[in-house]
Amino acid sequence: MQNTAAKTFPIERIRADFPLLQTEMNGKPLVFLDSAASSQKPQQVLDAIEQYYENDNANVHRGVYALSQRATDAFEAARKTMAAYINAPDEHEVIWVRGCTEGINLIASTYGQRFKTGDEIIVSHMEHHSNIVPWQMLCERSGAILKVIPVLDNGELDMVAYKELLNERTVFVSVVHVSNALGTVNPVVDICNMAHEVGAVVLIDGAQATPHGKVDVQAIGCDFYTFSGHKMCGPTGQGILWGKRELLESMPPYHGGGEMIDKVSFEGTTYNVIPFKFEAGTPNMAGAIGLASAADYMTSLDLDAIEQYEAELLAYATGEMTKIEGLKVIGTAPEKHSVLSFLVEGMHPYDLGTLLDKQGVAVRTGHHCCQPLMERFGIPGTVRASFAFYNTREDVDRLVAATTRAVKMLS
Ligand code: ALA
Repeated sequence: MQNTAAKTFPIERIRADFPLLQTEMNGKPLVFLDSAASSQKPQQVLDAIEQYYENDNANVHRGVYALSQRATDAFEAARKTMAAYINAPDEHEVIWVRGCTEGINLIASTYGQRFKTGDEIIVSHMEHHSNIVPWQMLCERSGAILKVIPVLDNGELDMVAYKELLNERTVFVSVVHVSNALGTVNPVVDICNMAHEVGAVVLIDGAQATPHGKVDVQAIGCDFYTFSGHKMCGPTGQGILWGKRELLESMPPYHGGGEMIDKVSFEGTTYNVIPFKFEAGTPNMAGAIGLASAADYMTSLDLDAIEQYEAELLAYATGEMTKIEGLKVIGTAPEKHSVLSFLVEGMHPYDLGTLLDKQGVAVRTGHHCCQPLMERFGIPGTVRASFAFYNTREDVDRLVAATTRAVKMLS
């Protein structure tokens, strides 16, 4: 197999940046293949967080003193970095949220207040629970109706069915960019264009896209985009919601509290401008700075090179794993990012995952927070190996060897 990206990708230097990748698990060098759940963190990100607490820590937007100003400058610079990471036209359209889940809930709770009985919201059958449940809760409150784009046998969205679902009652479409369970990369540009033709607004869940290559919200043409920092080498508890200015300005606030206000009196309260209107309370300053450091780290590696390197790794893994007798890949769409979900005939994913762990290979097993999708394929769950740019062909070889051994043990 051609292995072009791997020739120039500085994988040894990269791996040396990740302390956890140097460790052992169950007496074997750790092979970490669960980055879709949460990625590992390079020393640069750990240092940025420590440096913030040691040298710059103070509350932001509140003090006239120099240290608070320094913290504010670092915090707002981080926002600017994240705006650039997704090519947002204006950093004031970038809202700090805890993660993708909070981003989706924010939109459902605020933008969703305008929905009424009979309005239609479209999601897809491959959504994570976080892009299903908030809309179900909103439908219960508003009388809106949830419609679902079917998934084809290879794990692609049924775009013909999507076209048929769209109509003048469609007010909102919320679809995942890259499936966390199958790896399918969805045609988000077409999804947005088709929704806009009927006047619907589109949110893209980018949790599994931003860790694997360039994301350009303007090129996608979506109205909102959200993602989690911890899946792209940043700290937990920090993510981004981006939205078009006029939409964000038209929305009521989410949480009430300090910072999100303009003026408070018992006669009534007026609200701050965006993005602060949506950022009640003391924000996660260290999280924001850590996430910006992660974005800088990934950008410095070249996001196109990351995408190509991971594509070659996934192709290699798919080729090698499918040589194992009885192994079936779930999700074979032509466009995929870094996820290999599989089952072995007659074996429960949990048993396989446990035996892989004993051999130092960390994978996720189960429904991956996608119960409707598992039901669609008539399976209880899968074993999911998910890759990041710090994984290697040697990691794949360890996965293949460990799976082969586990299969023998369970046969
Ligand atoms: N959404 C995360 C996953 O896919 C937790 O594992």
